[in-house]
Amino acid sequence: MKKNKEKITKGIILAGGTATRLFPLTATTSKQLLPVYDRQMIFYPLNTLIKAGVKEILIIVAPEHSGQFLNLLGSIFEKLDVHLEFIVQTVPRGLADAFILGEEFIDDDNVAMILGDNIFEANISDSIKNFEKGGQIFVKEVPDPERFGVAEFDENGNVISIEEKPEKPKSNYSVIGAYVYDSRVVEIAKTLKASSRGEIEITDINKKYLEMNELKVKKIEGAWLDAGTFDSLLEAGRIVKEREIYKNFHSETEKAISEFNKNLKNIAKKKLF
Ligand code: G1P
Repeated sequence: MKKNKEKITKGIILAGGTATRLFPLTATTSKQLLPVYDRQMIFYPLNTLIKAGVKEILIIVAPEHSGQFLNLLGSIFEKLDVHLEFIVQTVPRGLADAFILGEEFIDDDNVAMILGDNIFEANISDSIKNFEKGGQIFVKEVPDPERFGVAEFDENGNVISIEEKPEKPKSNYSVIGAYVYDSRVVEIAKTLKASSRGEIEITDINKKYLEMNELKVKKIEGAWLDAGTFDSLLEAGRIVKEREIYKNFHSETEKAISEFNKNLKNIAKKKLF
């Protein structure tokens, strides 16, 4: 461990997994490389992190898609001061595994983890920028909380419990796929036991921070989309276009994506003539 180093917040995007619910689409590519309107899904979590000033980002990918991620992202942010790293997850062991795989990358810094298939309209930049210690999660009111992690609040608005996919949800507030923790998250993740679905659960990490009285929960508004099924993927593209969410991109990120597209078009033209 380095001494006297000022803590920064690093970023992790979880883009592994096989996404069998989206077969045959995901038989040939990663879910996070599927299009949401005019760009690949992965650009949304990348934008969230870059907008929040995160300069070091680790992307966790499945072995069969690592080449595709490198082709798309390998040099795209070269001109920005953003450093991307990739790590292959051979077995999808659950969301909390991101912190075990990312142990060396995280070192003793803070870390913001975003699920590669979560698109949200709310701007969480300030929460990431101002994060100091403990854990920070975000919740949104939804009609079907039993599908997610659910936070319960007391009358003063303090969180009192977090449950993963409860049969009888204690509130309508679902935990969205963006989490910020201090580096203790690595050791916490290592202590977790697999749940009934055979995964180490991020909800168990949140419960630990809650037990330590160090979990902050922020309610967010606006669209929240997880593109896990054909319908929600289609819906994500439609909402992103209708509400112009694709225009919320950080200007430098947008410039990098446009330049990359222009280069691709030029290469394609040269091949034609
Ligand atoms: C995961 C988490 C859950 C969270 C959700 C957000 O669920 O376990 O707590 O609310 O992401 O998308 P999963 O997608 O693994 O079912």
